Amino acid sequence: MTRILAAHSKSIEEAASVLRGGGLVGMPTETVYGLAANACDGKAVARIFEAKGRPQFNPLIVHVNTLDNVAQIAELTAHDITLAQNFWPGPLTMILRRKDDCGLSDLVSAGLPTVAVRIPSHKTARALIQACGFPLAAPSANKSGSLSPTTPAHVVQSLGDAVDVILADGACAVGLESTVVDCTGDAPCILRPGGITAEDLSGALGMDVPYDLGAGGDDADAVKSPGQLLKHYAPSVPVRLNAVDVAAGEALLSFGSIKFMALKEGGAAVDLPEGRLSHLSKDGDLYEAAANLFAMMRALDKPEHTAIAVMNIPETGIGVAINDRLRRAAQS
Ligand code: TXA
Ligand code: MG
Repeated sequence: MTRILAAHSKSIEEAASVLRGGGLVGMPTETVYGLAANACDGKAVARIFEAKGRPQFNPLIVHVNTLDNVAQIAELTAHDITLAQNFWPGPLTMILRRKDDCGLSDLVSAGLPTVAVRIPSHKTARALIQACGFPLAAPSANKSGSLSPTTPAHVVQSLGDAVDVILADGACAVGLESTVVDCTGDAPCILRPGGITAEDLSGALGMDVPYDLGAGGDDADAVKSPGQLLKHYAPSVPVRLNAVDVAAGEALLSFGSIKFMALKEGGAAVDLPEGRLSHLSKDGDLYEAAANLFAMMRALDKPEHTAIAVMNIPETGIGVAINDRLRRAAQS
């Protein structure tokens, strides 16, 4: 059952404890309501995708309170700091390069080397982040393909019981998602128009900030063609799906038991050396598998492997998104 709590210090504390336990919270922000989870907890982040019914893993926005917090998770250039000083806290999201030791789940960035970061201005969002002490991953709190919610009632209508607690704090002031600016190239460009305009950005930087809407920074919820979606991490070695055995030279990405799986070169999969075998989830837990997916593909993506053999993943719940990602990886 979803609990809808009026936002005040006690309910914010309660919401923070739900987030600490890996749960999901409907969080008011100045733009739209977000569906928040601990950005460092891969299983919690996996629950976001399932709750939204997203058939794909799209990277999520990480919400923090201070520029120091941003500097802990991402690289900042002089341009980025100018944008931060002008528009944070507020409805601006910057795509930045992730730091290796950022502590964020790989699933937050869908395996990309970049991360979307925003410092919100809404007092309840800020109090919640403060109470948690960790960054919050939060896409808009709606089912994939429907409109972003600007009231607690919209969140309930769209997500039903998939969210543990909703912090109710009236209607959102901006009512439109944040502007997404890609700051990872030579010059910043706008991937998604939003509360802060191109003119605002150009004025602050003293240079033209163009739109790059074709890059797929467009809200993936609204994107029709998958080709429009932004690039995902793709391993450089081939990926072989629905593997029931392991060929010579292949690495194995397992799901569930491998007790009875054989190696074509002779022997059993259980005896594969570390480095050639990663378990998405020994118990067949799809949330755990989603949380491990990108980090493990990366770990097995080595030139000495002829391919990554991946066992069958059930096409249910978040398994749909895992399989979508795996099929893309197998195609490239
Ligand atoms: O106003 C907002 O931005 C709201 C509130 C809750 O903060 N959040 C929101 O999140 O709209 P979401 O997930 O619905 O949209 C995130 C956007 C998507 O267009 C996504 O493609 C883009 O940010 N994005 C996230 N990470 C990215 C990355 N690493 N590279 C490029 N685009 C990214
Ligand atoms: Mg959205």
